[in-house]
Amino acid sequence: MTEEFHRIRRLPPYVFAEVNKAKAAARVRGEDIIDLGMGNPDTPTPPHIVQKLVETVADPRSHRYSVSRGIPGLRRALAGYYARRFDVKLDPETEVIATLGSKEGLANLSAAITSPGDTILVPNPSYPIHQFGFIIAGASVRSIPATPDEEMLRALDRAVRHSVPKPTALIVNFPSNPTAYVADLDFYGELVALARRHDIWIMSDLAYAEIYFGDRVPPSILQVPGARDIAVEFTSLSKTYSMAGWRMGFAAGNPRLITALTRIKSYLDYGAFTPIQVAAVAALSGPQDCVAEIRTMYRERRDVLIRGLHAAGWDVPSPEGSMFAWAPLPPAFREMGSVDFSKLLLKEAGVAVAPGLGFGEYGEGFVRIGLVENTQRLRQATRAIRQFMIRHGVTPPPARPETGPRADAAADAVADADA
Ligand SMILES: Cc1ncc(COP(=O)(O)O)c(C=O)c1O
Repeated sequence: MTEEFHRIRRLPPYVFAEVNKAKAAARVRGEDIIDLGMGNPDTPTPPHIVQKLVETVADPRSHRYSVSRGIPGLRRALAGYYARRFDVKLDPETEVIATLGSKEGLANLSAAITSPGDTILVPNPSYPIHQFGFIIAGASVRSIPATPDEEMLRALDRAVRHSVPKPTALIVNFPSNPTAYVADLDFYGELVALARRHDIWIMSDLAYAEIYFGDRVPPSILQVPGARDIAVEFTSLSKTYSMAGWRMGFAAGNPRLITALTRIKSYLDYGAFTPIQVAAVAALSGPQDCVAEIRTMYRERRDVLIRGLHAAGWDVPSPEGSMFAWAPLPPAFREMGSVDFSKLLLKEAGVAVAPGLGFGEYGEGFVRIGLVENTQRLRQATRAIRQFMIRHGVTPPPARPETGPRADAAADAVADADA
C-alpha cells in the first residue's frame, strides 16, 4: 500500500515548486516581490459581464444543475464569435461544447480519445496540460519543435514515419504559452494537409486568440478548408475578457471529437453555474470594446517590459502575441540554467519569473516573463533587473545613444530612473 499510484507516478515533481517556495518565503520576510511568474490576468472582468452575473444569480431558477455541454444560447454565442471573427460557420448543436475553462476541455478530450500506449505529438516547450492530459490518460508523448514553421513540419513527418504505434493526435497552441510564437493560416494549411494524410487528430489551443500586438491577427485552424474533418479548437474567456476565475472555455470543430468530449463530460459534470454561462453569453455577444482595451493594455505592458529589459542589457524578443515574453537567459547566466537563474533573480532583484524548464526540457535556457503587473510595476521590475545585471558585470547599453533602435530603450531607462 506504500507504492505511489500508477497515474501519480507519471507526473514528475512540479518544476515551478522550487521558485514558488522561494517566492513565498521572501513574502513572509516582508519583501516586495514583483511577480511576473504567473499567467493570471490581474485586471477585473468588464462591469457589464459582472452585472449580468449578478442579475442572473438573483433568479432562483438559475440555481439548479445546469447543462453539461453548455446552454443552447451560449453555444450559439460561441458560433456567432467564430462567424464574426474567423468567417467560420459552426453548428452549435454538433460542433460546439462549453467547458469549465479550456484546460478542463483539453484534459478531458485527451482522456476521451486516448488508449494506453498511444503515441501523441506535443510541442516542447508547451503549456503543461498539453502533454500531461495525455500522459495521465496513459499515452506516450513524442516531443516536436515548438516553432510554427518547416522545422515542426519536418519533425511531424519523421514522427509519422518512425513512431510505433503511429501517432494518433497532435496538439498545437498559437499564440503560444510559453514561447509567444504566432502561426499563420498557411502553416495551419500544411498542418491540416499532413494530419489528413496520416489520419491524425489535431487539437488546437487558441486561448490567446485576442491577445496579439502586431498586424498578424491569429487565425483559427478551422479556417482551413477540410480542417473540421480532423481538428478541434479550444478557446477561452479567461484572457480575452479577464475572466480566468470564472472557468469558461469552449471546444469547437470536428463533430466526432465534440461528441466524445460531450459524452465524457456528461458523466463528470453538470456544466458551469448557469449565471456564469449567461454572463458568458453577455461577454461574447455584448459590446466588444473591452476586448480591444485589454489587448491595448497588454501591448503597452509588452512595450514597457521589452524596452526596460533592453535598457538593462537583456536582449529579449518582443512577443507578437500571448501575455508572455520568452526570454533567453542573458549570456552571463546561461551556464546556471533556468531554475537557478529564476531563484537568483528573485533573491537579488525581487522579480519572479517562470523557469523555462517547467515547460519541458527544450524550455531550458529560457524564462517566461508574464505581462501580469501594471506598467509602473514593470518599470520598477526592469530597473531592479538593470541593477542586478550591473552587479553581475553586464554593461547595459549607454544611457543616451545618438540613434538606433536602442535609443528609445535607453531613453526610457533614464526616464524611468527619474520616475
Ligand atoms: C495556452 C493555454 N491554454 C489554456 C489555458 C487554460 O485556460 P483556461 O482558463 O481557459 O482553462 C492557459 C492558461 O494559462 C494557457 O496559457
